[in-house]
Amino acid sequence: MQRISRLGHNRGEVVGPRSRDEFQRSLKITPGGSMRAAPFFAPHPPYAVSGAGCWITDADGSKVFDCENNFFSLVHGHAFPPVIEALHNVLDDGTAFGLPTTSETRLAEAITTRSPKLEQVRFTSSGTEAVMFAVKAARAIRGRPMIAKFEGAYHGAYDYVEVSLDSAPNNWGDSSPNSVLYASGTPPSTAADVLVLPYNEPKSCRELIRKHHERLAAILLDPVASRVGMVPIEADLREVIQDCCNRYGTLLVIDEVVSYRVGFHGAHATFGFEPDLVALGKIIGGGLPVGAVAGPASHMAIFDHTKGKPAVSHGGTFSANPLSMTAGLAALQAYTKDAVARLNQMGDTLRSEAIEQLRRRELPAQVTGMSSLFRLHLKAEVVRNYRTSFPSALQKAALAKVHRAMLERGFLMTPNCSGALSTPMSETDIQDLAAALVDAVQEVWKQSPWD
Ligand SMILES: Cc1ncc(COP(=O)(O)O)c(C=O)c1O
Repeated sequence: MQRISRLGHNRGEVVGPRSRDEFQRSLKITPGGSMRAAPFFAPHPPYAVSGAGCWITDADGSKVFDCENNFFSLVHGHAFPPVIEALHNVLDDGTAFGLPTTSETRLAEAITTRSPKLEQVRFTSSGTEAVMFAVKAARAIRGRPMIAKFEGAYHGAYDYVEVSLDSAPNNWGDSSPNSVLYASGTPPSTAADVLVLPYNEPKSCRELIRKHHERLAAILLDPVASRVGMVPIEADLREVIQDCCNRYGTLLVIDEVVSYRVGFHGAHATFGFEPDLVALGKIIGGGLPVGAVAGPASHMAIFDHTKGKPAVSHGGTFSANPLSMTAGLAALQAYTKDAVARLNQMGDTLRSEAIEQLRRRELPAQVTGMSSLFRLHLKAEVVRNYRTSFPSALQKAALAKVHRAMLERGFLMTPNCSGALSTPMSETDIQDLAAALVDAVQEVWKQSPWD
């Protein structure tokens, strides 16, 4: 397969006429012509028609090599045969029941077997719900109203966890970050119950947690948060967080909706955390909608409905639907220790190749990430957290150009130039991806330097 011009369109054209027509039609029936904000990029993305392995075919018959994998959820790429086969086997039996199914127990067992610290599981239909229920559970368990989260971190759409998701130099404050509301109309009182912590600044974090610990139910942490810069948590901060949780009885809630993939036993095990609750999603659904809250049975008892109204009620019409459960089990079974190790190795190769080539060409850019996750930053200074990753206006515009330049080369990344590898990828694909990324950065740098 040729590396350059994988798309069938003329070079410089990343969207064909059928996608253009479809977008015009879509503009009439949904705001901005897009059902989700995240995949949108100007003028509009191509429409996907089918996927197989690493490739997506669009409405105009062109193929793109997918490094986005539906926002990191498809660890085996598209139409993974074991998932498709498992779904075919159950599809004729019905899609959702107001009764439990054995498939939910099987997937929960697969998760608890991989991660012994997670003794019990409750499924949801999305990561947003998983985080929301984990936060509600933590507040109920501790009887405290406040949560702490890291500046810039994305944890889904619950009001509280959106605080300081996109704070900026004009409002983020000093080393004790302001709690900045995200969506217009969010009740201002929300900010009063969210402590915002600066990532990889252990001294400030310890001081802030100490100051607020009496009201603090939980610390919500994604140890490789994409929007915080996709930088793995540093050892000093990890120790401070675990120590403060032990000292003050604050619960540690780990958001592994994305980062579960970094290790066979999950991110909490990779980083050596003792989690009180973990939020899961994405890859545990095998490409179908999913989320889960998991943790020790003593904490999960907060959801127990058998003795009357539970402390925290948890429902969801499509929670634990058998299709998501079946697809998730097939995907997890194939994400073996060997598969995890191979994918992690390919991620290391991608990052080190790209970083080395960027350095050799003296381009002010770097690639962060961990395991099979990566993110490009158009910055020379080391990215350690949200503030050091925060792009200037020029850098933001240049990132959009790199994203487009990658599409012209036939590679799809997220609009902020991050991505996740999938198991059907080969070593050659990784070399091609690294080369394309550096090429795209160089092309944009020559046209419109950002430094
Ligand atoms: C770290 C993290 N937490 C939670 C979520 C929310 O998951 P979902 O989109 O399934 O609601 C996401 C989604 O991208 C995420 O990246």
